[in-house]
Amino acid sequence: MNLVLHVWRQRNAASEGRMERYEAKDVNADMSFLEMLDVVNEGLIAAGQEPIAFEHDCREGICGSCGFMINGAAHGPERGTTVCQLHMRHFKDGDELYLEPWRAKAFPVIKDLVVDRSAFDRIIAAGGYITAHTGSAPDGNAVPVPKENADRAMDAAACIGCGACVAACPNASAALFTGAKISHLGLLPQGQAERSRRALRMVARYNEELFGSCTNIGECEAACPKEIRMENIARMNRDYLKAKWNDR
Ligand code: SF4
Ligand code: FES
Repeated sequence: MNLVLHVWRQRNAASEGRMERYEAKDVNADMSFLEMLDVVNEGLIAAGQEPIAFEHDCREGICGSCGFMINGAAHGPERGTTVCQLHMRHFKDGDELYLEPWRAKAFPVIKDLVVDRSAFDRIIAAGGYITAHTGSAPDGNAVPVPKENADRAMDAAACIGCGACVAACPNASAALFTGAKISHLGLLPQGQAERSRRALRMVARYNEELFGSCTNIGECEAACPKEIRMENIARMNRDYLKAKWNDR
């Protein structure tokens, strides 16, 4: 199939960006979206032009490095799919695709489709950890965890920190990401020691990082490639309000 790509090109954070038109010819339906861009980039390099910058690492949907908007949808049109796992069979010959970086004040553009997501790292550093003894791993059965809590914690821990929730949200809120990180520790016995402090510090940091507030629109859950549920936002709010109340 042949496609027309309109790609956001921006040299660096300080310069102005613009959409540029490219043709992707003889695209194989079994290619991933990033492999299609690899081929486009090989053509650009051969022609002496600057390749399109995009972020990637695992290309297996687990690291959270990749992600950009395809025709206005974070990670593209397939639900529960990162852009590295999106295959070209979901597109058809003659399609025109518009590729843009995540748009959020807290995620400044570094180059083309790559944004700076270090604000997420700073939210984690504010409280996304537990007190744990170093040394050998404890026996798996030493700390009993109710099955329901273990399942919910595992679901929240699936968050890969890609930032699609922020990009999809009209408020550019990081509530789903922060809620997932607070939940996956707060649901487990090992996460109780810092539970209140974690909620206070991570929410404070997220507010300092220029993310917007959550107004329960739900675009985050719809765009999330790991299908993280909004119930994690409610859990974050409960932990935060409880910690605030106890702080009085
Ligand atoms: S909540 Fe979903 S969309 Fe947001 S960072 Fe985590 S995996 Fe990505
Ligand atoms: S490159 Fe790792 S999730 Fe896409």
